[in-house]
Amino acid sequence: MASYSVTPVDYVGGELTVPGDKSISHRSLMLGSIAEGQTHVTGFLASEDCLATMAAMKAMGVQIERPTPTELRVQGVGMRGLRAAGKPLDLGNSGTAIRLMTGLLAGQAFDSELVGDSSLMNRPMERVAKPLRLMGAKIDTREGKPPVRIQGGQPLRGIHYDLPVASAQVKSAIMLAGLYADGATTVVEPGVTRDHTERMLLTFGCRVDAARGRISVTPPSRLVASSLEVPADFSSSAFFIVAGLLAAKDLLVVRGVGINPTRTGLLDILGLMGADLRLVNHRSAGAEPVADIEIRPSRLKGIHVPEGLVALAIDEFPAFFIAAACADGETMVTGAEELRVKESDRLAAMANGLAALGVEAEVLSDGMRLRGQPDGRPFSEGTIDSHGDHRIAMAFAMASVRARGEIRILDVANVATSFPGFVEVSRSAGLAVVPTP
Ligand code: S3P
Repeated sequence: MASYSVTPVDYVGGELTVPGDKSISHRSLMLGSIAEGQTHVTGFLASEDCLATMAAMKAMGVQIERPTPTELRVQGVGMRGLRAAGKPLDLGNSGTAIRLMTGLLAGQAFDSELVGDSSLMNRPMERVAKPLRLMGAKIDTREGKPPVRIQGGQPLRGIHYDLPVASAQVKSAIMLAGLYADGATTVVEPGVTRDHTERMLLTFGCRVDAARGRISVTPPSRLVASSLEVPADFSSSAFFIVAGLLAAKDLLVVRGVGINPTRTGLLDILGLMGADLRLVNHRSAGAEPVADIEIRPSRLKGIHVPEGLVALAIDEFPAFFIAAACADGETMVTGAEELRVKESDRLAAMANGLAALGVEAEVLSDGMRLRGQPDGRPFSEGTIDSHGDHRIAMAFAMASVRARGEIRILDVANVATSFPGFVEVSRSAGLAVVPTP
């Protein structure tokens, strides 16, 4: 089983770039495939998750060229041009792929079946299937989990749906099905979630009206191909933001990062804790805002994280808990029960990993409470089980900047689902991460 050996370092620093945004890369493939004309994508994330989406679109008859690893030419087949794959579509480890694809395929003329790896086969799908059934889709799950079987050829109607959970995947699945409905579809969010689908649909010429957590999509007659530039993934940057705050000698810079405000809750949370984080060199990548992030060493103080920021930082909590363990006083996270149904139960996985490094954390039904140690090195040597969860593995690699001995991180192969080149980028920042087979 692939693992990392990570040994303590004193400082990190320099300038680095992380790979393209995962959420935007998935969406570029799906919308590019059903647009008319060629969509040219740069900055594409060539990770296992996004390559699974690419393989699924190819299996449904879409021609996609990848002239360089991070560049795509998607020959859109139009909204009604996809063809039955004739086999189950395997979406690997990717929750985003299976949720969004369920919405997209609900509106097609043919039947589909969606499967994935052992983690994906245990993730909740009824949150997506239920609203799609209200639209008229015919979808079966296995006790709420994949395989997902979608019976095509169903006329869909536009609905008004109040989302019970703040989930961009559910919102996006409904919007993608809404492209094929007989009238407008409106989704109301209980809290703001990432809005990449809305932004990209607008880029492709679809009418989307969004105001105060209420998003309506008007079914278009066609989507028009576009050029897309994918910014670097804020969620991948998060690991280095934490490492930089805890151990930059003077400055660590992450370049060209997507700073869509529906993604950057971590900056606000860390700001409340006293972090010195600066966004500079603002620009835009099409519909998405981009900046460089300057990270300076900071003494953090513990806080109760405002619940309104949780959905805006949902993927960053593994990295955040490493920072919280080095903050002065108690940090408490509540309203974050969604962390239990990610690639692993991230509350349990983080608490167990922290305990293995000598840091006690209390798992709450919807969050975590822990007392940090701002001085010295709170983490002992120890062995972490990442439970095959990429973000758990990468978060604990960052703990090495405040560790007293070697941290061994087990089951790390899935880092490739979101961050190809993680070891090399980490080393360029000064971390001592060594992969072992
Ligand atoms: C994503 C939405 C989030 C996030 C996931 C990517 C997306 O999931 O955790 O990594 O691309 O829409 P939920 O919608 O389940 O919160």
